[in-house]
This record gives sequence, C-alpha cells and structure tokens, in this order.
Amino acid sequence: MNDCHEKSKHTYQSVRTPGNRPDFNEFPPQFKPYDESLPKVSLNESDRWHRCVLYSAMVTATKRYPPITYYLRTVPSAGALYPCELYFQARGVDSIPDGVYHFDPLNKEAVKIADIHRESGIETYLEDRRKIEGLIFLITSIYERSRWKYGRRAFRYALLDAGHMCGSIEYAAMYNEMASRVLFKFDKQGIVKTINPYPTELPISMVLAGIPKKSLVKHEPTPLTDPNVEKAQESDFIKECFKEYTSLSGCKKSLRYTKQRLLSHKLKESILNRRSCRKFDPSPLKKEFFKNVVEAMSQPIISDCDEDIEIYSILYNVENLEAGIYRDLLPIKQGNFKNVASYLALEQHMVKEAAALIFLVSKGKNYIPIMHKAGHMGHRCYITSEYLGLGCCGIGAFYDDEVGAFLDLDRELMVLYALTIGNRGPS
Ligand SMILES: Cc1cc2nc3c(=O)[nH]c(=O)nc-3n(C[C@H](O)[C@H](O)[C@H](O)COP(=O)(O)O)c2cc1C
Repeated sequence: MNDCHEKSKHTYQSVRTPGNRPDFNEFPPQFKPYDESLPKVSLNESDRWHRCVLYSAMVTATKRYPPITYYLRTVPSAGALYPCELYFQARGVDSIPDGVYHFDPLNKEAVKIADIHRESGIETYLEDRRKIEGLIFLITSIYERSRWKYGRRAFRYALLDAGHMCGSIEYAAMYNEMASRVLFKFDKQGIVKTINPYPTELPISMVLAGIPKKSLVKHEPTPLTDPNVEKAQESDFIKECFKEYTSLSGCKKSLRYTKQRLLSHKLKESILNRRSCRKFDPSPLKKEFFKNVVEAMSQPIISDCDEDIEIYSILYNVENLEAGIYRDLLPIKQGNFKNVASYLALEQHMVKEAAALIFLVSKGKNYIPIMHKAGHMGHRCYITSEYLGLGCCGIGAFYDDEVGAFLDLDRELMVLYALTIGNRGPS
C-alpha cells in the first residue's frame, strides 16, 4: 500500500477530530494570473481547436456562498477548489499562432507564455521527441489550493482532479474528432521552466491531441515570462508524496483507444451541462444505463503508464438487478446495503437516494498514474451519466478501511475513488 495513501485515510475518528477546520479568510486565489502585457488569443466555440481547449476546462456556471464565489467548470473538482491548471502548446493550428499557452478558464483566453519555432517546443521534454502537429496539453496541480481545506487528503484530490481533466480533454478531443493519449513520462523539471510555476505547482500529466511528424524537436521553448514571485507554504507531507511520483516503475503501455462513440450534439450538451448531482429521484435506475456507465468506465485509456483498476459497486435501486455488491457487472453478495453505502461515504445522505455507489480500487505500484486513471474513469462516469440523463457525483470522502472490509478486499487493494449514480431529481 502506498504510504501517502495510507496516511491520508479517513476513519470514523479522524473526521471527528476537531482542530482541522479550514479558515475561509485564507481561501487561496482561484486563478493563476499572468502578466497583462503577454499576447492573448480570445477563444470561441465556433473554432474546432479553440473548442478543444474550452471544453476541456472552461467555466460553465457560478455558485455563491458568501464571501466566496465558486467558478464551476466542465470538470468537477473536490470542494470546487480546482487545484489543476491547464497549459497547451499549439503547433500548425490555423486559428492559434504557434506557441505555449496558459488557459484562462474564466475569461476564455489563451495567454501566450512561450515562443516555439521549427526546431523548438515542449516535445523536447517527451521520450518521443517527434514534432506534434496539433495540441499538446500539460496539467499541473497547485495543491496548496486544496491542502488548505483538505490537509493530507488533498494529495489524492489533486491527482483525481488531474485525471478528471484528462478525461475532459478526451471528450473535448472526441467531440472534435481527434484522438488523445495520456503521458506520465516526461521531463518534469525541464517543462516547468516554460510555464513559470508557483512554488507549490507541480506537473502531473500531459495529453497529446495531435499528429506526430517525422522531424525531431531539438530545443526548449523560449519563455516570455519572468520567474513567478508568489510564495506559498510547502507542506512536508505533500512534498514527500510528490517527490515519489517522479519514479515510475514497470509501466505498461496501453495503446488501445476507447470504443465509446457518442452522438455529437448530445456529447456537446453533456460536456457543457455536466454538474454534480446532489438530489436523486427515488425511481429505479434502468439496468441498461448502469451497464452503459460501467462499460464506458472500463474502456481502455491510451497511456504510457497504464495500471489495472477494478470496479466494485453497491447496487440498491437498479431495475432487474438484485441489490447487493457487484464486481464489474457480476454479483458477488446479495443484500440491500443502501444505508451502509451512505455510511461508508461519510454519511452523505444523497448516496442513499441514488441507485448505486461505485468504488474504484487498485493494487498497482505507480500511485500517480493509478489515482489519475481513477479520476479519468470518474470523468467518464460523469459524462456518460449526463449523456443518459442521469445524475452522478464524485465521492472522494469515504472511510477507507471500512470500505475495504465491507467489500472484502484483499489488503493490498487501495480504495481510490467513489462515485454515486442514479436518476436525477429536481435541481
Ligand atoms: C475528486 C472529487 C471528490 C469529490 N468528492 C465529493 C464528495 O465527497 N461529496 C460531494 O458532495 N461532492 C464531491 N465532489 C463533487 C464536487 O464537490 C463538485 O465537483 C464541485 O463542487 C463542483 O461542482 P460541479 O461538479 O457541479 O461542477 C467531488 C468531486 C471530485 C472531482
């Protein structure tokens, strides 16, 4: 079991320990500003390439809990804290001049932060340095935005959120008829020179949405920014956990692409309307829909460090499926465990009103790719649910060991993430 996973477990006792209440006066900035004088591209939805960036992470709604306004996006995020930032390189794209950009999700702008040329670009940080025509995304995490509220658990959320972002890029690319692939193996120390990171901002993953050409990229991009001045407090725990992620071992490559095919107008609506559901309708979920969601989640993800993730579900309101525990779509124990499901998710009431609680578990060795893949699969759960007119909500908060004991999991299996789905109630 990964040490950082172990140390960030919730227990009945730990969530009742006083003293860890977040101070809302210390709410960290939600956006990363760059110098006003940098060149910008205003992105609009009528352009294919612009859309690919916008649909990956743009703001689609606001929610106000004074004194804070939360800017909700195409991607969900634990506590709506959005630790992840999105950058991309455009090369040979007619509507965006070649360069490296930071995506400003609120103003729907791409801010140019580095120049690239024929022989320079961020491909130089990849194992395969072939020039990519199209978009290369980079996802970073400013984990301080999340640690402020969630302490050690923030480490998990930063990775799950990054996985969701990759899932979101996957659907944005799919809508634009492009394939995407996830990379964990790249020169992380090198690439941050281009983006001018905050002290607590770490690169997590990259996504290629472009076509490799024959020629190689030999030089680094030329940054247009000064070193960043903002300093944040680093936590030893997070520093230690993130240090570990640079060493990936025994990675297997996945080259198979998802077979999920979605109607384009409905996919667009699903991307733009996606929200976390907190009110479910008591009517039973159609068996077919449950199957569709699990199948979409199980589809392969192209990646250079793939890990096996198993899907367990507690079903308590699915038509023509016996209530009980399932592994994939196979029953392993009968019984109505709806109250147990809600309890395991830290007594969150809406779980009881939904139809099923899904758990993603793994005993893989590469912790960052594992958590990331769980987030990516979670995103597929959200978008497929939205597409089918269902409600879905990510559940990062659960009693880890009690879930493991209830599902009768092998001790090596880590419970990574949970999601609840059901028929959507009135909003
Ligand atoms: C990793 C992760 C964990 C989450 N955990 C919970 C949770 O335990 N309970 C909950 O009600 N919502 C949870 N959410 C949903 C977020 O609160 C939600 O995404 C955020 O408020 C933004 O709202 P939206 O998804 O409607 O855009 C989680 C989301 C993510 C990505």
